[in-house]
Amino acid sequence: MWNYIWILFLIYLLIEISFAKAASVDDGLTSTCPALDPRLNYRPIIGILSHPGDGASGQLSNATDASYIAASYVKFVESAGARVIPLIYNEPPEVLQSKLNLVNGVLFTGGWSKAGLYFDVVEGIFNQVLKKNDAGDHFPLLAICLGFELLTMVISKNNNILEAFSASNQASTLQFMKNVNIEGTLFQRFAPELIAKLSTECLVMQNHKFGISPETFQGNMELCSFFKILTTSRDENNKVYVSTVQSESYPVTAVQWHPEKNAFEWGLSMIPHSDDAIQVTQHVANFFVSEARKSFNNPPAKEVLDNVIYNYSPTYRGKEGKGYDEVYIFTEKAAPFHYKM
Ligand SMILES: *[C@@H]1O[C@H](CO)[C@@H](O)[C@H](O)[C@H]1NC(C)=O
Repeated sequence: MWNYIWILFLIYLLIEISFAKAASVDDGLTSTCPALDPRLNYRPIIGILSHPGDGASGQLSNATDASYIAASYVKFVESAGARVIPLIYNEPPEVLQSKLNLVNGVLFTGGWSKAGLYFDVVEGIFNQVLKKNDAGDHFPLLAICLGFELLTMVISKNNNILEAFSASNQASTLQFMKNVNIEGTLFQRFAPELIAKLSTECLVMQNHKFGISPETFQGNMELCSFFKILTTSRDENNKVYVSTVQSESYPVTAVQWHPEKNAFEWGLSMIPHSDDAIQVTQHVANFFVSEARKSFNNPPAKEVLDNVIYNYSPTYRGKEGKGYDEVYIFTEKAAPFHYKM
């Protein structure tokens, strides 16, 4: 009986040893991973500023202190490997400031509000972004549609600089400026064929009534010393406006078009959803989040968990058509009248 058990045990040992040998053969190839790049932050967080209203013409909330973020912006950021913290625009300045200190970059969304508290908050956050970069962090800002228009107003110091354009629910091309260098810009990751298609096929979504012509843009000292124009587009009347700009001294990018819509919005009839159009969404998201990975702001984990967007639920309203498919609604206490950040 004991002999029998010993033989079984010996067989077991032999098998184990031969397996161990087999495993040791490719040890060096499979069991270690190269060290991560110490110059990057692999847990980036993006702050998205909420916009006044419910994003649904009062269908979801008529509260005067309601604000919203279309879920497409959240998915856009998350799809590229970052988490989102909502920066609720009408929270008290000190709360907003503490949330700004939890993130590695900021996104300004589309919308319509160009005055009052929202304008002041956008200007305040923009100045903070410059300050963070001046202090040595690499802290990116991506401004989309209304965000583009607001940065144009803030940087030019001229609230009447925008002009009327007809680009509602319009897919368009992007025309690159002559001899433009796309290294270090949001187009950096685009394959050459996709860059070529951008100027001949309508791969980007426009939805705006205002904009700025290249002449007006270049006629403003502040604007053209801060931003380099990368592309222009044409509205429904063939009027040319600036559609993509990149700062040369700060990681600040502004687009009059909507990179997030191609992959994540279905309510407007002209949104491009082709393979190429989805790649446009993905490349822009990857560019923005890769910029945020260069930010070393490392907030306390508990504060992040308390504030990330997962604490909120989006509301589906795609069945109404036309607007956003999903929105996050925030109802927070309004900030004091005088805003200082
Ligand atoms: C908001 O007001 C409008 C107009 O009075 C109304 O039709 C709508 O149902 C209201 N929305 C909510 C969420 O109560």
